[in-house]
Amino acid sequence: MPPASVRAAPVAATVRPARPRDQEAVRSIYNDAVATTTATFDTEPRSVAAQRAWWAAHRAPYLVLVAVAADEVVGWASLSAWSERRAYAATAEVSEYIAAGYRGRGIGSALLGRLVAQADRRGFHSLLARVAAGNPASRRLHRAFGFRPVGVMREVGVKFGRRIDVHLLQRMAPRRALRTRAGGGTPPS
Ligand SMILES: CC(C)(COP(=O)(O)OP(=O)(O)OC[C@H]1O[C@@H](n2cnc3c(N)ncnc32)[C@H](O)[C@@H]1OP(=O)(O)O)[C@@H](O)C(=O)NCCC(=O)NCCS
Repeated sequence: MPPASVRAAPVAATVRPARPRDQEAVRSIYNDAVATTTATFDTEPRSVAAQRAWWAAHRAPYLVLVAVAADEVVGWASLSAWSERRAYAATAEVSEYIAAGYRGRGIGSALLGRLVAQADRRGFHSLLARVAAGNPASRRLHRAFGFRPVGVMREVGVKFGRRIDVHLLQRMAPRRALRTRAGGGTPPS
């Protein structure tokens, strides 16, 4: 049975592309999730240098969006390369991180909705998400935007002294959005 809907009072947030000066807020939200959740399998905080490298790797066609509430960045979502290998060029990975006090208020949904629409516009054929077991909010969020289960990678991570499964989810671009972003040659029609 799917987990029950868990929504607190929605927060009015504006979603926009991230700017270079948002990097510190992005890093801070991420590092809180590193320290307190199994949503990411990083176990050490992301350094300023690593954040810069991450930022550089998210130039178009990849993307970082932020959600802003009361002039503060309270969440972000990214479209990242799934693999450096060229034949994967039409596939990207999505990630979302909301500041702890703002979860369950519709911000993840606002970000992922925009991200998926942008991915379609940018010609991505397939989007992937890796969701650690025990994250019903993330499973529910992705499901709402068309991500479907591919399979479960059993006990691929260890964090906080536990072995953790990872669910792989995938969303195919709607047919109307299908265009070519293929590094490995012309895709089949
Ligand atoms: C997972 C995360 C991105 C979701 O964003 P959010 O803003 O909290 O989610 P929303 O409020 O938009 O809700 C999305 C869905 O999850 C459900 N949900 C939210 N919190 C939930 C919870 N604690 N348990 C179960 N379902 C929950 C909502 O009811 C909603 O489902 P619905 O549309 O069917 O009502 C956010 O909670 C987060 O940043 N968590 C920590 C980091 C993380 O897990 N990132 C994802 C990595 S894969």
